[in-house]
Amino acid sequence: MSVSEIKDSYAEYADCMHRLEWIDRAVLGRYRQARFGDVEGRVLDVACGTGTNFRHVPETVDLVGIDISPAMLENAAEQLTEQGIDGTLKEMDAQDLEFADDSFDAVISALSTCTFPDPIAALHEMERVCKPDGTIRLVEHGRSDIGPIATYQEWRADAHYGKTGCRWTQAPRELVSEAGLEIQDSTTGLFGTITTFEITPSQCGER
Ligand SMILES: C[S@@+](CC[C@H](N)C(=O)[O-])C[C@H]1O[C@@H](n2cnc3c(N)ncnc32)[C@H](O)[C@@H]1O
Repeated sequence: MSVSEIKDSYAEYADCMHRLEWIDRAVLGRYRQARFGDVEGRVLDVACGTGTNFRHVPETVDLVGIDISPAMLENAAEQLTEQGIDGTLKEMDAQDLEFADDSFDAVISALSTCTFPDPIAALHEMERVCKPDGTIRLVEHGRSDIGPIATYQEWRADAHYGKTGCRWTQAPRELVSEAGLEIQDSTTGLFGTITTFEITPSQCGER
């Protein structure tokens, strides 16, 4: 799917995703909390969607959220108000971030690389805008390591992609490695469908 098709698709789902956030909290809340609960300083949430991550970052952070979908960002604005967070939201493509190098102490993102047309470019952008002594935290989903679940995912992969633009059989660990990012810590959960990462940005600065 192209970026504009993804935008259209999320315009359709935004309100529903916002309403069903309680399910996400019950299922994924602990993974988000474990990865995002200790970030500090100026924090960028890439593809923030309806702002599901916002309740999982400390309220002291200086939060910036970007997403390609204006409809998702409208819901994210409500989430900022609900959480009492003084954050900033911008419509932006994760593959071409409009921030200077080394702008953020932490870059977080959840359930996003599966939807980016070029996830490697987006991961490189996250690394570029993160300070060398900062941290990149991801909560990603992908192909299960449990046979019957993986078989179901493979069976429905094309239909799921056609509807949502989400590649739910992606392999997040391989993706992060392919991007050349240094994984400091990683966990898997939810029957092998969720992988979380703590990544140290490259000390070289330039890629
Ligand atoms: C499955 S939702 C996840 C939203 C949120 N991070 C969460 O965890 O609930 C994927 C999000 O990626 C956004 N997205 C897709 N492609 C994008 C791109 N190229 N740049 C920025 N955001 C994008 C979509 O608009 C959508 O909000």
